[in-house]
Amino acid sequence: MTQSYSYSSSPSLLLLLIMSALSSPFLIPTSSLFSSKRTHLQTRKSCASIFVASPLKMSISSDSNGPQSRASFSGLAPLEAILFDIDGTLCDSDPIHYYAFRELLQESALQIGFNGGVPITEEFFSQNLSGKHNEDICYVLFPDWDLEKSMKLMDDKEAMFRRLAVEQLKPVNGLHKLCKWIEDRGLKRAAVTNAPRENAELMISILGLSNFFELLVVGSECERAKPFPDPYLKGLQGIKASPNHTIVFEDSASGIRAGVAAGMPVVGVTTRNPETLLMEAGATFLIKDYEDPKLWGALEEQENFAASTATT
Ligand SMILES: *[C@@H]1O[C@H](CO)[C@@H](O)[C@H](O)[C@H]1NC(C)=O
Ligand SMILES: *[C@@H]1O[C@H](CO)[C@@H](O)[C@H](O)[C@H]1NC(C)=O
Repeated sequence: MTQSYSYSSSPSLLLLLIMSALSSPFLIPTSSLFSSKRTHLQTRKSCASIFVASPLKMSISSDSNGPQSRASFSGLAPLEAILFDIDGTLCDSDPIHYYAFRELLQESALQIGFNGGVPITEEFFSQNLSGKHNEDICYVLFPDWDLEKSMKLMDDKEAMFRRLAVEQLKPVNGLHKLCKWIEDRGLKRAAVTNAPRENAELMISILGLSNFFELLVVGSECERAKPFPDPYLKGLQGIKASPNHTIVFEDSASGIRAGVAAGMPVVGVTTRNPETLLMEAGATFLIKDYEDPKLWGALEEQENFAASTATT
């Protein structure tokens, strides 16, 4: 990339310009996002450092997860509850996390010197950071640092994430349709996440779901975070639901493992992560988003099954 852009244009105009120049589905304009406290982050002005211009790998196909994974919930009827992960499952937040990590790890003013100043790649993020909770991320990034020091850096990263999320966070397609379906049936529902509570509450609020969720379970407040079953077991307990009548929605391998270990079928949402990774982790079946006909077919089938067994 040879072009560079100044901060003088409005962010939306800038966004349009860059979008047409790069045809990239994911861009973050930073000019209006960082508070004055963080002016040191605004010093680099090349296109590459102002924008996250290349998307993380997207898995698109919703029907290539093999004939072995028939989309069915019939064993669950009657359906009682739905548990949702947040990051990547309710909203496509990974690009914002990636951006925040990349900026912070590269920030020379903080003298981190991570990877000799070479920015982390999307592959590194996806493979080593995505879906993990911060304590685990500290051990991945800074195995030699004491935890207090690296957790302080994670706090900075989360603060940057929250500033960006306010402008960037969007629901996964069809989310509100599914939430309405759940509300109409009076199903119990909880959000179960490895994100810090402050982030989780902000994301739920930005998505307009503060009144939708009865309960928010945070991994770091459990004895063990995902991929252990503890957060999901706490969620089930908190809303008094049986794992035999509950569905989990997850987008990461770690989260799918947690849901499966807690005894529930897990629908994998292929927001960002490779289909094979999600199937290997034990997903019952995969959907592209909440508009996916496979999901609605399975929900309908389980309702019909519940209705037929209720009358016999
Ligand atoms: C993930 O981290 C490991 C250990 O630091 C490293 O060897 C590997 O290359 C990383 N993955 C990517 C895609 O960079
Ligand atoms: C779930 O179903 C299994 C098998 O039918 C049964 O053994 C178990 O007790 C059930 N769990 C709950 C919490 O009802």
